[in-house]
Amino acid sequence: MTVHVDAAGNIAGRFFSSDSVTKRNIAPRTLIFGSHLDTVPNGGAFDGVLGVLIGLAVAEHFSKPESTQLPFAIDVIGFSEEEGVRFAQPYLGSAAIAGLFDSAWLDRTDDQGISVSQAISDFGLSPQNIADAAVDPSTVIGFIEAHIEQGPVLESAGQPIGVVSSIIGQTRLVVEFLGVAGHAGTTPMTPRHDALVTAGHWIHEVNRTALSIDGIRATVGRINVWPNASNVIPGRVEASLDVRHAADDVRERSVAQFLALAALIAQNGGAGLSVKHRSDVDSVCFSKRLETLMCDAIDATTGTVVRLPSGAGHDAAIMAKRFPTSMLFVRHPGGISHHPDERVDASDVGVAIDTLIDLVNRLAAQEIS
Ligand code: HGY
Ligand code: MN
Ligand code: MN
Repeated sequence: MTVHVDAAGNIAGRFFSSDSVTKRNIAPRTLIFGSHLDTVPNGGAFDGVLGVLIGLAVAEHFSKPESTQLPFAIDVIGFSEEEGVRFAQPYLGSAAIAGLFDSAWLDRTDDQGISVSQAISDFGLSPQNIADAAVDPSTVIGFIEAHIEQGPVLESAGQPIGVVSSIIGQTRLVVEFLGVAGHAGTTPMTPRHDALVTAGHWIHEVNRTALSIDGIRATVGRINVWPNASNVIPGRVEASLDVRHAADDVRERSVAQFLALAALIAQNGGAGLSVKHRSDVDSVCFSKRLETLMCDAIDATTGTVVRLPSGAGHDAAIMAKRFPTSMLFVRHPGGISHHPDERVDASDVGVAIDTLIDLVNRLAAQEIS
């Protein structure tokens, strides 16, 4: 493959199965495979990177002389910064490829105060060239992401793979509670404006409220306390909030409900409140053409087609805004993810590769006809 690293840190390889593209003088349209290379703290070994390796295995298959001569190129992309853990902004890499990178994101900083722009420069790339990473949609037949399911559906269905019907929408924000720091020993229990007690009350109420909203996922996964000393009453707390739902209007109403709770609880706790919206990604449906090809390929390789939505976000959610997109899920035992126990069965990965090879052959037949 010819390989390059773009200004957003994506690693992209391109493969032509033969010179049939040049011989037939076809503009090099391409079918893109890939997923993300980053992960989460204490994560597993398959979230993201499995999709890159499956894409490489498909390209490798078509590098063999006995394979179909494809009328298009195959690209494999390892996206940077999909998780959004470091800068609280997911999908930086795929947004650059899709031409949807917001230059304001370059100023986002991590816990050490390093900006996205600085991190890209420190890596030896030029953040001012990120717009050049955008891929022209007219050159792309589609984007296919293979990914572990990160849930229990395929395992309970007894199936190795499934086609993803949609990705549910997600909102990420940071709520800051401002209290009054003080000496743990000399400050009476009342009146105290303990920011951590207020935040804890809100976190409990978010969870209690979410339990009454069908299909919602609300998570406070990260909390920072200042000054974070055992003998000091916390004066400031930042808490993350991750809200997801298949229906965008339900997600938006739920976010408003959780923020109204924060305002009420902050007021009752004598705390100040500020909210920083980090990202909003609406629910995504995929290309019907590619989904049909994916279902036909799955039917050919396993005989059973399972369609399922994704509760997790993926680069495919961003790529689908620009390119025809489809996703294939791979079963993984226990559905445990974002955890070291994340694993897959090699035979299931083999079925995924065979299925995608079948899909590419079907696509080639359509493109040639
Ligand atoms: O957070 C997610 O949904 C994914 O792991 N990026
Ligand atoms: Mn993940
Ligand atoms: Mn992932």
